[in-house]
Amino acid sequence: MNAPGKSTRDYADLARTGHTHVSLYTSPEVYQDELDRIFYRSWVYVAHDSEIPNPGDYKTTYIGEIPVIVSRDSNDKIHVMINRCMHRGATVCNSETGSGEKFVCPYHGWEFAPDGELLTIGLPRGYNEGEVNQKELGLVHAAKVDSYRGIIFASLYEVPDITLDEKLGNIKEVIDLYMNLSPTGKIIVGKSGVYKHPYHGNWKIQTEGSVEGYHAIFTHVTALDVMQRKMGGHLKGFTTSGLHGYDTGHGNNVLEIYKHSDEVVHERWSKEYIELLCDAHGETAAMDALRSRFNMVIFPNFAILEYQFRVIRPLSPTETEVRLYHTMLDGVPKEVNVRRIRDHEFFYGQASFGGPDDYSIFGRMQEGYKADTVPWVYLNRGINTETTDEKGNRVGDLTQETQQRAPYYEYRRLMAGVE
Ligand code: FES
Ligand SMILES: [Fe+2]
Repeated sequence: MNAPGKSTRDYADLARTGHTHVSLYTSPEVYQDELDRIFYRSWVYVAHDSEIPNPGDYKTTYIGEIPVIVSRDSNDKIHVMINRCMHRGATVCNSETGSGEKFVCPYHGWEFAPDGELLTIGLPRGYNEGEVNQKELGLVHAAKVDSYRGIIFASLYEVPDITLDEKLGNIKEVIDLYMNLSPTGKIIVGKSGVYKHPYHGNWKIQTEGSVEGYHAIFTHVTALDVMQRKMGGHLKGFTTSGLHGYDTGHGNNVLEIYKHSDEVVHERWSKEYIELLCDAHGETAAMDALRSRFNMVIFPNFAILEYQFRVIRPLSPTETEVRLYHTMLDGVPKEVNVRRIRDHEFFYGQASFGGPDDYSIFGRMQEGYKADTVPWVYLNRGINTETTDEKGNRVGDLTQETQQRAPYYEYRRLMAGVE
């Protein structure tokens, strides 16, 4: 087991409220501490239920840099296990998704069940009595696995000091709004496509960038121009005030990006779809879901943006891969999901009008951070007018940086033990 990071850096000082030190984006030592203290010892997103719906289904992914398998066993139990053969360490599964009765290591044929049990050892007669204990050589499980609304999180090496329920806190009601866009309350993740975007930059640039309310009219000027011509009134939210960013606690945060009027909701979606939702959830909850559009981050590696689950995978201090899993709604007329795919492609596709702008900016930020004689990155916009709402969320205006400051409270708690 890894020892929690060894650095004696003062992370409480480096991750100030409103200012982050440039070394947090560049230093290999800081990066290793983040893996040890955040990625390997707190709640990290790994998968959605719908990616492994049946017994025997699995997906492979990463917690920090460590390869893991998320699988469903024959009793419907979900397991998160390190993708490392217990013999000599080869990954036992190379497919991103699949289904089967066992994982077979390609090196010497050891076979593992979907729950990690070591079933068979290749050429077993070569082992003498007492040289191998099959019962002890199952795949290593994450210390804790839990889920909310089908969203599965794990803590790899230690049971976290807070439950998943405490970790999610107020952001659960925003997740509920997202799921309520389906009459069954269920979504289907990734079946309609996954985009993979590597970028030359630290992982926290994407954490911050997933809820960036300030940049759109500058960075995405072309996309907004095209959208304005295509969609007209639907874009009012980009330019009017009344939209907010929220820090909902434990690093999680929300950015409202549109709030549609009822009139726009009815223009945008068919009567059939709206009635389906009203019948399923009641009119108030259905219209709340249809009016609200938001991005949210669940620190450290997960975001939900409109039609996608976004998963952040750190590769090095200055390299990151982001995967965008398109989400479809269960139980809706086909045209609703087709619309969600087209809108997603328009802004976030590989050759689209929006997403590539962001990755270009992320690379430019990392380039700028090479000048580490300039010590501070500013995230203090709106800090003096930030308020707290009745639920305890910190609140700022859409274009301020309340939501982007949110991760650094949890960062200090996990990295420096400072509440
Ligand atoms: S490394 Fe897996 S069986 Fe030898
Ligand atoms: Fe953007």
